[in-house]
Amino acid sequence: MSEVTHPSFCRVEFKLFYDWNGDRPTQILIFRQNEFSWWIKVVVDWSLPELITELGYFQRRSLFQMSLQAIDFRQMQLLQNTVTKITLSLTDQNQNLITIRDGFQATTNYFIVVAHRLRYEIAEDPTRVIYPNLDRDLNIPTFEASCLQNAEFLAPTVFTVLFKQRKFAYKTIDRPIYEPGDTEHIMNEIDALAQFRGQPNIAQLVGLVVSENPYKTCSSTKLPAVVTGFLLEYYTGGSLERSINEDEIRNDSLPIRWAIQIGTALESLHTRGRTHLDIKPSNIVLDANKNAILIDISGTGGYLWEWLSPEMQALIQQNIDTTPANTPFGVRVATDCWAYGRLLSTIAEKCPPGGTGEKLRFVGEALNKAAPESRISLRDALAQLEDNRRLRIGLSRLNII
Ligand SMILES: Nc1ncnc2c1ncn2[C@@H]1O[C@H](COP(=O)(O)OP(=O)(O)OP(=O)(O)O)[C@@H](O)[C@H]1O
Ligand SMILES: [Mg+2]
Repeated sequence: MSEVTHPSFCRVEFKLFYDWNGDRPTQILIFRQNEFSWWIKVVVDWSLPELITELGYFQRRSLFQMSLQAIDFRQMQLLQNTVTKITLSLTDQNQNLITIRDGFQATTNYFIVVAHRLRYEIAEDPTRVIYPNLDRDLNIPTFEASCLQNAEFLAPTVFTVLFKQRKFAYKTIDRPIYEPGDTEHIMNEIDALAQFRGQPNIAQLVGLVVSENPYKTCSSTKLPAVVTGFLLEYYTGGSLERSINEDEIRNDSLPIRWAIQIGTALESLHTRGRTHLDIKPSNIVLDANKNAILIDISGTGGYLWEWLSPEMQALIQQNIDTTPANTPFGVRVATDCWAYGRLLSTIAEKCPPGGTGEKLRFVGEALNKAAPESRISLRDALAQLEDNRRLRIGLSRLNII
C-alpha cells in the first residue's frame, strides 16, 4: 500500500451510498485512472445543516456524488489493493485540505461551497468486505466467478447462477449489509459443508467461487486469487418457511418425513462435534422430491432470539460477550434440540386436525419443556417419530387411513 503517481485520465464509478436519517452520508466508489483502480469509501464526519438533511434521499445522494466528482483524488495518498477510507471533516486548519478540480469551483453545491474548509483523513477501511486468499488446500473444486451467469435472487446473500447450463445456488461473501465476521462465518460454513459431503438431507457443496482480488489497484500486478463465496446444489422446492406460510400442509406423510429428515441431519451434525444454532424454517429447503435439506450450517452465523433455548437466552443475558457459538458444546446441542422442538410445533400448526400434526405437537412439546432435564433427547424424539411413521405406513397398507 504505497503512493502511486497518477497519469491524467480519471473517472469515478459509484457503488453503495447510505446515510443515517439524512445525516452523515457515506459513499463507496472506485476511482479509476488509466490501468489503476482504487476502492474508496468517503465518510462525512460532521452534522449536515437542515437544508441538506431535509432533502429527499435521491437529491442528497446526487448532491454528494456531484461533489465527489469534483474532488481531485489524485492529490491523496490512496492505499493499494484494499479500500481507502477518506473521512471528511470541517476544520479551520489548513492541513490536508481537499482540492477541487478545475471547472468545479463555481457551483452552489453545499459540499463544494464548504470545500475550502474540508479536511481529509486517510486510513484502511476496517469495515471493508474481506475476501480470503485461496491459500488453503480444502480439496474442493473451484469455479471462476466470471464464468457464472447470474440468474435469480433468492435472498440477500444467495443467488441462483448458471454454469454450463446447470443451475446452482451461489452464497456470496459480499452482501448489502456486510458485518465484520461474515467472512469467517462463510469459511466456517465451507468447512462444515466439506465435512458433510455425501450426507443425505444436508446441503451439498459443489465448489468454491474464486476470482481475482476485486480491490486490485494495478491491473498488471499478480495477486493471489480470492474466495468470493461457494456453490451449493440448487434445491428447487423452495424453503420450508415458504411451504409453511403458503398454505395448510395437505399431504399428511410429508410433515413426519420432514421431521425425521431434519432430526437425522441434526443428529449427524452433533455426532461429528458440530451444532447448527440457527434451526428455523428458512434454513430448511426442499428438493424436487420434497425431501427436507438442512442449509446454513456454519454453526457460527446469525440466530433468532426466539429460537434459542431459555437457558441459552439466560447465558446471553448474563454476559453481553456471549454468543451461542461460544457456549459449551452441551448447551449448543440443547439449544439445537429445543429449536427442533419448536420447528415440529410450527409444522404441526399447519397440519390438518387429527393427522400427524398431533404427534409432531406432542414430540415438539416434549423437546420444549422449560427445564432441560425434563426434555426428551433428540434420539428419543426421532425414535417416537419413526414409530409413528411405521405405524402409519402399516395402517395405510391395511386401508385404515
Ligand atoms: N441450495 C439452495 N437451494 C435453494 N434455495 C436456497 C439454497 N440455499 C439457500 N437458499 C435460499 O436462500 C435463503 C437464504 O439462505 P441462507 O440461510 O443460507 O442465507 P443466510 O444469509 O444465512 O440467511 P439468514 O441469515 O436469513 O439465515 C434460504 O432461506 C433459501 O430460501
Ligand atoms: Mg439462513
